[in-house]
Amino acid sequence: MAYHSSPTLSSSSDFSSKDEYTWDTPLTEYAYNEDYLGDAFDPTQSYTLVTGGLGYIGSHTVLELAKAGKNVVIVDNSSNSHPIVLERIKQLVNQHFVDVPHKIPSVTLHQFDYRDTTALCTLLNRYSLPPHGSGVRRSMITGVIHFAAYKAVSESIRLPLSYYSNNVAGLVSFLETLNNYGIKTFVFSSSATVYGTIVQRESLDTISEQYCVHQDESFIDNNERKFSEPGCKGITNPYGRTKWMCEAILSDLCISDPTWTVIALRYFNPVGADPSGLLGEDPLGLPNNLMPVVGRVLTGQLPILQVFGNDFETKDGTGVRDFIHVSDLASGHLSALEKAVKGELKTSFRTFNLGSGMGHSVLELVNTMKSVSGREIPWKYAERREGDVAVSVARPTRAERELHWKTKRTLTDSCRDTYNFLVNNPLGYRVEIDGST
Ligand code: UD1
Repeated sequence: MAYHSSPTLSSSSDFSSKDEYTWDTPLTEYAYNEDYLGDAFDPTQSYTLVTGGLGYIGSHTVLELAKAGKNVVIVDNSSNSHPIVLERIKQLVNQHFVDVPHKIPSVTLHQFDYRDTTALCTLLNRYSLPPHGSGVRRSMITGVIHFAAYKAVSESIRLPLSYYSNNVAGLVSFLETLNNYGIKTFVFSSSATVYGTIVQRESLDTISEQYCVHQDESFIDNNERKFSEPGCKGITNPYGRTKWMCEAILSDLCISDPTWTVIALRYFNPVGADPSGLLGEDPLGLPNNLMPVVGRVLTGQLPILQVFGNDFETKDGTGVRDFIHVSDLASGHLSALEKAVKGELKTSFRTFNLGSGMGHSVLELVNTMKSVSGREIPWKYAERREGDVAVSVARPTRAERELHWKTKRTLTDSCRDTYNFLVNNPLGYRVEIDGST
């Protein structure tokens, strides 16, 4: 089998080379053909497959992986992302390696839906290695981070079948395909939403992973032995249920085949942007989450922020959340992936909270944005939003202990970086697409 050297990204011009920049390339045009193996990559290297890698959290994670020297293969159908993000990631990767004596890792985009099994198999064929003597399939893809999913809570209530189809059925067939290729290291994008209303019912300040499990567990909390039964209580929407179901499926998979290593990362509330101002959050359509709405009000695209509820049992009556800087979240993925690849987990399926452990109220976030921007943010109280919980704050000790990861950035950092992204991109990424302001 002939292998050729990789067209690695040694200069900025390499970023636009056809081999690396493949989003318009219909992958189905490549039948499995050994001649292709050497074209796009270096078989002595390893690669991380990232689905949804152009989205908000995905893009920051791809940047973090590449800065750590990892080659990244992105699969993204651009349904809620902007292709220009790839250029920006590559620009930042190039800048990062200007003074670093390290080969620049490759970042490639393959624009298809992760549920398109034909396209996926064609891609995976290109990264396949000859099987071991035992016949076990091997791949240059040593780990997968799976972001691609629908994530809008209110939309999930209107379109539950779309959510179950994409998030749950899509995951099952994705796992079957990966299994066939011997790719069994998997980081799953989960959510604190799996805790439902447990925080309120148990009157907890912070929530630990043991409060939502998929197998019987006992644990010590505040010097008291507690027993967790598999299940979930009080998840208020189909989106949240898809995340719980996906975790349960992954847990069952690891029990049936412990050669899988799976980490489910339960995100709290991601905010902020890369400090460069090149990457940030720009949801397509009307935003629902707090920070994007605040951003649209601050830039005059929405007239006023509605603060949902002022009678929660919290410090100022508004909801309290664990806002985590997206770059911290991204580095959490890197830590998780490295542990998973090394097989250094206590159990083959392991959940981790990714949060700061600090709660801030909606009004605290608004006031911090006001102070870092020096601009007014008109707001008014509105009725509680259906399904909202009063408090959602992580206990992040498991991730600190086992992944050696913790947040470094504050809410002020998040607000400053968000504002910087807004100043540099008042219309988000759209200006780049339209070519006009
Ligand atoms: C929820 C999920 C989270 C999920 C996210 C995806 C929970 C506990 N969290 O986050 O896991 O990833 O949805 O969409 O289920 N708010 C306003 N005005 C607005 C928007 C929001 O006051 O215009 C308030 C909300 O009432 C809430 C807080 O801001 O108190 C945060 O809301 P949001 O950003 O939507 O996130 P969650 O609902 O916490």
